[in-house]
Amino acid sequence: MHKNTKEMTELILKAKEKAIKETSHEPEPEFTKPISWPITCTVGPGLEGAIACETKIGYVNGAKGWLIYRGYNIFDLCAYSTFEEVAFLLLHGELPTLSQLNVFKKKLVQYGHIPLTKRRLMSFPVERMNAMAALRLGTTFMRQEFTDVESQEYINDTVKIISADEDSIPMETKPMGEKHAIYEFDEKKLLEMKIRDNLQHATGIESCHHLVAGVSSLVAAIARIKVGRLPIEPHPDLSFASNFIYMMTGKVPSPIEERIMDISLILHADHGMNASTFASMVVASTLSDIYLSVGAGIAALQGPLHGGANEAVIAMLKEIGSVENTKTWFEKACAKKQKIMGFGHRVYKAYDPRARVLAPLAKYMSRKNDEGKKLFKIAEQLEKEVLRTLGKEKKIFPNVDFYSGIVYTCLGIDSEFFTPIFAASRVSGWTARVQEYLLNNRIFRPRAMYLGQFDKGYISVKNR
Ligand code: ACO
Repeated sequence: MHKNTKEMTELILKAKEKAIKETSHEPEPEFTKPISWPITCTVGPGLEGAIACETKIGYVNGAKGWLIYRGYNIFDLCAYSTFEEVAFLLLHGELPTLSQLNVFKKKLVQYGHIPLTKRRLMSFPVERMNAMAALRLGTTFMRQEFTDVESQEYINDTVKIISADEDSIPMETKPMGEKHAIYEFDEKKLLEMKIRDNLQHATGIESCHHLVAGVSSLVAAIARIKVGRLPIEPHPDLSFASNFIYMMTGKVPSPIEERIMDISLILHADHGMNASTFASMVVASTLSDIYLSVGAGIAALQGPLHGGANEAVIAMLKEIGSVENTKTWFEKACAKKQKIMGFGHRVYKAYDPRARVLAPLAKYMSRKNDEGKKLFKIAEQLEKEVLRTLGKEKKIFPNVDFYSGIVYTCLGIDSEFFTPIFAASRVSGWTARVQEYLLNNRIFRPRAMYLGQFDKGYISVKNR
């Protein structure tokens, strides 16, 4: 399945071996029994320890450093699988058969064609917007495509949408040498695809597929618009990972670049009841639609304590500047009680398995990239400092965000797009978990302990 990337598979399998060796003595899984509601559990601030639902989608064992998607461990999925397979697995419960996989791959390419959404987005000052804010806006426009379909007065023929504003947007020739403008290509393709026939309602599994395909297409489009270029549509002959890089950069990636992106997408696809997944689920539990639920996930992911940490890690490594300065920088940061970006986790009290995979791959990718190599060396030194101190005292280890930014830097991707790439993968987990929760929906509604007063007398505004 993966060509010319044997060395990368070996690195992943070695990481798996090391993980098993280092954590086999840890206790067996907890949080894996059916629930008889109501349950009693110890809840800390930030809902730490709270059990909100049952799931068959994924499992994180914080003590052992396990991550499991639908029964498969993350190391095996990274070594042998692809993002298309993993997204299907999360959404449908089983790995696809060959014919299911082929249909799904084709659909992801088709659903990645969102010209109307991209055109709407281009009427906003995307180049001056935070990329995650633009992405959130884009997913709202993806929902809007249905509103247009639903109100048939506006349009009942895709070609009319495209040709109606064809003159108003400057065209860019496709980067593979063809002379025709991108949206001429769309016009023909979209007619063949009859995409909107499948997507009549903004709920259900088709919308999940639409979002999995559309978010990566949007991320790539935003990356291009921000540097003054027009979006590129997905290429029907490329894999999801390859298409993602191609749509961002205009260049078909090498097998190694394709594979590292694929692995990274697999690693970020799902991760229990993390903040962005929970945010999506909270919105969905009100029976709002899945596009708006995903928008909530994007908003939550943006923060530096969650998905935004990967961008912050690169800023931090650049601030440290050299291997020699790392110890001094770290000691000063500790003295100021500063959080070290890319370290620590609410659930993992062992080495995050995703960082176990990404660390050797970041080293591998940075061999031929000067900037990547410099950042990797500082990161390696910082990890040593943290493990020697915080690791021993507080069980703080690198998390997924610590090495992912170095990998993306080696792919030539600007740090502003690290978190959007995370979103392009995690949308598979968000949609899978929302779909599962809705089967047995109950609106989320925790309570707060009121510590205010009870008996204040009202004072009119002029007497305050
Ligand atoms: N650097 C230094 N100390 C840390 C770090 C860190 N990165 N993370 C936790 N600690 C310390 C805290 O200071 C605290 O110490 P104390 O008990 O002496 O006060 C203790 O470890 C527990 O930390 P909390 O902040 O209570 O842990 P919480 O579960 O609330 O937070 C979080 C987890 C947000 C991930 C935290 O570790 C952090 O801020 N890390 C840096 C940001 C980051 O990398 N986020 C990405 C996480 S992975 C993801 O979301 C995809």
